[in-house]
Amino acid sequence: MSSSSSNSLERILVIGSGGREHALAWALAQSPVVQHIFVAPGNAGTAADLDKTTNVPVSADDIAGLVRWAREQRVGLTVVGPEAPLAAGIVDAFQQAGLPIFGPTRAAAQLETSKCFAKDFMHRHGIPTAPYAAFSDYAAARDYVRSATARGGLVVKASGLAAGKGVIVCDDAAQAEHALKQIMLDREFGAAGDVVIIEERLSGPELSVLALCDGKTVALLPPARDHKRVFDHDQGPNTGGMGAFSPVPGIDKALLDEVRRTVLQPAIDGMAAYGAPYTGVLYAGLMLTERGPQVLEFNCRLGDPETQAILPLLDQFAQAGISLAEIMLACVEGRLAEVEPCIHWRAGACATVVMAAPGYPGPYPKGAPIDGLADAAQLEDVLVFHAGTAVQGGQVVTAGGRVLAVSGLGVDLPTALRRAYAGVSRIHFEGAHYRRDIGQLSGFSD
Ligand code: AMP
Ligand code: GLY
Repeated sequence: MSSSSSNSLERILVIGSGGREHALAWALAQSPVVQHIFVAPGNAGTAADLDKTTNVPVSADDIAGLVRWAREQRVGLTVVGPEAPLAAGIVDAFQQAGLPIFGPTRAAAQLETSKCFAKDFMHRHGIPTAPYAAFSDYAAARDYVRSATARGGLVVKASGLAAGKGVIVCDDAAQAEHALKQIMLDREFGAAGDVVIIEERLSGPELSVLALCDGKTVALLPPARDHKRVFDHDQGPNTGGMGAFSPVPGIDKALLDEVRRTVLQPAIDGMAAYGAPYTGVLYAGLMLTERGPQVLEFNCRLGDPETQAILPLLDQFAQAGISLAEIMLACVEGRLAEVEPCIHWRAGACATVVMAAPGYPGPYPKGAPIDGLADAAQLEDVLVFHAGTAVQGGQVVTAGGRVLAVSGLGVDLPTALRRAYAGVSRIHFEGAHYRRDIGQLSGFSD
């Protein structure tokens, strides 16, 4: 890559502790320019698996502590995984300190942190999304639901961040009224439910299209699909995501061009016009309806576990190619258009299967020893990303609800899935559960 930057990629800081952050550290470490990656706070995988990485005992929400660390350690690029520090303004704080950081500012992150802002924004910019109304008054919301005529049902959403749980899909007005009570009167999602969005229920298969952004240009990542329900055939409660795969069979270039033209580019242009240029990854959660792709939500970051299925497809060693670290730095420096032709994706597919602790997404135990990690990792084209893990007395143990994300690469989706499940079969911890239908192409467009 000939383009140059005055910033150094020798030392990188990754913020977060899940499977997404392990995958990020793994992918960033592949660049020969990168000498060391700090992960704050990281997990057992980022502590031990990669020789270039070490964990830093600073939590992801200690923004002042992270700024101090990055400055003291002369970190040349910081990459933020989760949404909470973005919502809290970590990018603004790093920018004020003159430290390069990949992610949107607090104002730009409103596309995720306020569904009300996002819907309003899409409406203003003609970005396709379900018709909606926003309410902060319970009685007004209830009257609206009672008089609504949407034939397909309604979806009630808490406007604020609710850890992926603030969306209730309703079949009829009675269910929608119940959802309003949960959010506005019982305050199940706290202040996130101060404002609710009531929108028309759409139908069709779902698709996640994520794009790198530098404030003006968007570069799409291969499309992905995740599986949100905890049990096979989309049964049981929603989770953070039980598995994902990329690319998605049947999604062609024409559709992705349409998503770029009707959703992602107008979003980036609109944010720039609003005075909050968007840098980082913009994640569009879409439903492919008869009226074309419609936005269900924006996220202001990479998805988890989508990242564990997308990043292994980046071909960082392609001829005239570019590494993830260089791409992210180019985004921070507004040079994405210049490097975009150097971004290469492997042919083939990647799938990731999440192994969860017993009880997840409800309460779950921690501290169960995990066996077979090395055995799984040595399988060809299998990558074991840690999510909720820790080291206790030299042994890797469970420390979260989603414990591991096991990814498989292959020439096609069936091969990738076979490899991911071969990896899963080598790993054991008490009560482990995982979906056995990741990547099956029917039945998850509910
Ligand atoms: P969100 O967090 O907004 O993506 O919503 C979570 C899930 O709720 C989505 O992945 C969809 O399955 C569903 N959902 C959200 N909005 C709608 C809608 N307007 N119509 C149908 N399903 C929806
Ligand atoms: N897997 C969904 C998300 O990261 O938001």
